[in-house]
Amino acid sequence: MKKEKDNLTEKLVSFAKRRGFIFQSSEIYGGFGSCYDFGPLGVELKNNIKKAWWDEMTKKHNDIVGFDASILMNPKVWQASGHLTAGFADELVECKKCHHRFKKDLLEQNKCSDCGGELTEPRKFNLMMKTFVGPIEDEAAITYLRAETCQGIYVNFKNVLQSMRLKLPFGIAQIGKAFRNEITPKDFIFRTREFEQMEMQWFCTPDDADKFFEYWLKERMNWYMWLGIKKEDLRAKETPKNELAHYARRAVDIEYKFPFGWKEIEGVHNRGDWDLSNHSKNSGQDLSYTDDEGKKYTPYIIETSAGVDRTLFTLLCAGFKEVKGGRTKTTESTKEIETVLNISKELAPVKVAVLPLVKNKPEIVKIAKEIYALLKIHFNCQYDESGSIGRRYRRQDEIGTPFCLTIDFETLEKDDVTLRDRDTMKQERVKISDLVIKISDSLK
Ligand code: GAP
Repeated sequence: MKKEKDNLTEKLVSFAKRRGFIFQSSEIYGGFGSCYDFGPLGVELKNNIKKAWWDEMTKKHNDIVGFDASILMNPKVWQASGHLTAGFADELVECKKCHHRFKKDLLEQNKCSDCGGELTEPRKFNLMMKTFVGPIEDEAAITYLRAETCQGIYVNFKNVLQSMRLKLPFGIAQIGKAFRNEITPKDFIFRTREFEQMEMQWFCTPDDADKFFEYWLKERMNWYMWLGIKKEDLRAKETPKNELAHYARRAVDIEYKFPFGWKEIEGVHNRGDWDLSNHSKNSGQDLSYTDDEGKKYTPYIIETSAGVDRTLFTLLCAGFKEVKGGRTKTTESTKEIETVLNISKELAPVKVAVLPLVKNKPEIVKIAKEIYALLKIHFNCQYDESGSIGRRYRRQDEIGTPFCLTIDFETLEKDDVTLRDRDTMKQERVKISDLVIKISDSLK
């Protein structure tokens, strides 16, 4: 079972490279410490995930505004947030024999998982990435790449509250890069040193915090199901009190059943007044809130913190299907395996493929190119005229393209095309003039 599952990660790594989703960073120089680059299809998918999340937060929910803080901040922010001083550190152990390093809490045994060698005593290792600002690399120039996007929101709490004339409860949503000097990045893009977060900070009264925690946990679980993840492959896991992050009063991980086990894709946290109180104390600025009755207090924060890369990985794991013997009946050999990326149509990186039936009939190619030009203003499209029509369908199925259009001899007489649905493989004739509306409606 384990072997078969590990196999899926390996298949996804090669699929993601072969089809332009994900490449190893700096590959021609041998790669670079668990950093990845997103190719033409990967970036489309990523953008679609981010847009879906942004719309979910700022359009489908009331009282949530957007934000975009800078990655580099005054290092005092990280002192106050506890990331430099408190628990934002992992325990590192090293194998005395092969010198591999491990994050202690990920080891299942007290021996090196690579060679069985004896391990050193654990030592603390802070995860913040250090950098220097300005030309002189001295102590005064040190700052950090942010380890979570939310601190940029907390230090702007008053700015947003006042400029937008908000009243509690309300939320601030942000998408952006975060960096952690992870000891053992692993499992492809699951744990990397540079990644993207989609975080929403919900500010409320201390009395309402428990209620909103439940509300947001439910909303976030529903969102993953709406993305097409099966309910049985998702679970909510309460973090035991002794394992809570330094800022959290309560935390529940939303986990997905990855090929390598149940793993966190999002955290829902009750951060209490930890962040606003600490920033108030350290900056000397009052970050409290005064309600309409004149009552003054520091709001509590319920945070939903999702990873863009982990969501993308989840969608690839959930959607990648291999069908032996030919689903499309166009496979030359019945032993050949056809691949389908069963991804929600709204998220699919390419929406429509335009395929002239033959490439040696100028009238057909001309119309196909005109249709491509018409559609690409509205949808991300691909034009493909090489290979048999069956092969071309399969190339599109593999990357999850919901619709393939075939321009054939009938098109010349009737001004219509064949529209093929990825999932049902059913084909219907649609008038060229109706294509944009028909495809738009089907993508909702
Ligand atoms: N602001 C709270 C916070 O950052 P977290 O549980 O440390 O909480 C939230 O991270 C999410 O960010 C995780 O659920 C995961 O999706 C993503 N994430 C965290 N570390 C990551 C890493 N090294 N690589 C990829 N994604 C990561």
